[in-house]
Amino acid sequence: MTIKTSAARPGMYVHSVEGGWMASPFWRKHLVLASARDIAKLIEAGIGEIVIDTDKGVGPLVPASQPLSVAAAVELAGGARAVVEQSRGAMLRMFADARMGHAIDHRALAPLVDSITQSVARDRRALLTVTRLRSKDEYTWLHSVAVGALLIGFARHLGLTDTEVSDLGLAGLLHDIGKMAVPSAVLEKTGSLDPAELAVVRHHPEKGHALLLGGDVPDVVRDVCLHHHERVDGRGYPFGLAGDRLSLAARMSAVCDVYDAVTSQRPYKRPWTPGDALARMQSWHGHFDPELLAAFIDHIGIHPPGALVRLRSNRLALVLGTGGDDPTAPPVRAFFDIPTQARLPLTEVATDAAGDPILGSERGAYWFGMSWERMRTAVLTANSNDAPPPARAVGA
Ligand SMILES: [Fe+2]
Repeated sequence: MTIKTSAARPGMYVHSVEGGWMASPFWRKHLVLASARDIAKLIEAGIGEIVIDTDKGVGPLVPASQPLSVAAAVELAGGARAVVEQSRGAMLRMFADARMGHAIDHRALAPLVDSITQSVARDRRALLTVTRLRSKDEYTWLHSVAVGALLIGFARHLGLTDTEVSDLGLAGLLHDIGKMAVPSAVLEKTGSLDPAELAVVRHHPEKGHALLLGGDVPDVVRDVCLHHHERVDGRGYPFGLAGDRLSLAARMSAVCDVYDAVTSQRPYKRPWTPGDALARMQSWHGHFDPELLAAFIDHIGIHPPGALVRLRSNRLALVLGTGGDDPTAPPVRAFFDIPTQARLPLTEVATDAAGDPILGSERGAYWFGMSWERMRTAVLTANSNDAPPPARAVGA
């Protein structure tokens, strides 16, 4: 039965949603609405209609009763939307100042960094869900808010200090400020850019850095602005700095910037799912700091196919698929016991709460040295009845 989302109520079993589950703030195929907050999340994501299964959950109320009003539902959705709305004015003023060549007064962004920090603390995905609803014109400021939120969450995950966390949030908000010097026609072009246009776009880190020189922003803000397009193999821009010549903040911002860009809806492309994005980013050797990317994947909580993970049982396993109903709990194949350093018969394991949950990412080269890639292929391609692959652990 199809109903208006605004008429939904807790206890309903949602079979499907308008626009498909990619459009929904819930990363699963089926959903029982647990609370008004769940309904609010659907409404907030712009989902107007849902299909419910009344055999598996409650049905709609009789027409005489009051459905949950849109306003009430949106209010219940928490502060995420408010944070984005609040950011609009502050960010657009900032960008306008930059466009006019005025000095950037970053203090105006301090309350915004605070509310993003609080929003991320409440629900690390809330803000990112909202920022998926972006139009072409709004791309740069919403991308900036999203990168700020990702950097705040990532910095927290890495255990950085409160000052470092908020400085990185500010850095995320301002990292693309130099885009204001790029003509809109180039910025919004859907086709490929010619060499001259590409050169203009690639100049935005230095433009932004120059804009920030006059202000008293923390050093890390200028650092992120200038270096967020560098790569650890030295093939990024503008300077081609490699490895540890890039600060932690620069390497973190490269990960967050690309992750938000590829998971965003743009006029000329469909967004990648988070799992897809992380899997592809992991396959781009030399682009990101591999240890930081692994930590970022732990922060997002979605381990892509082919990733090496540690299970609660202290076994190492490879992720086999995307997790179906719950991308945070994909099927895995366990092959190595950490306490005894012993290879195990290949075993397929469920990683949901009832199974053997994933504790975090691991690096194959740390555990198995040079033989890792061969071993990964053997584990992934073997039938689970086959003998375990030959390998010897070199990690501790
Ligand atoms: Fe950029």
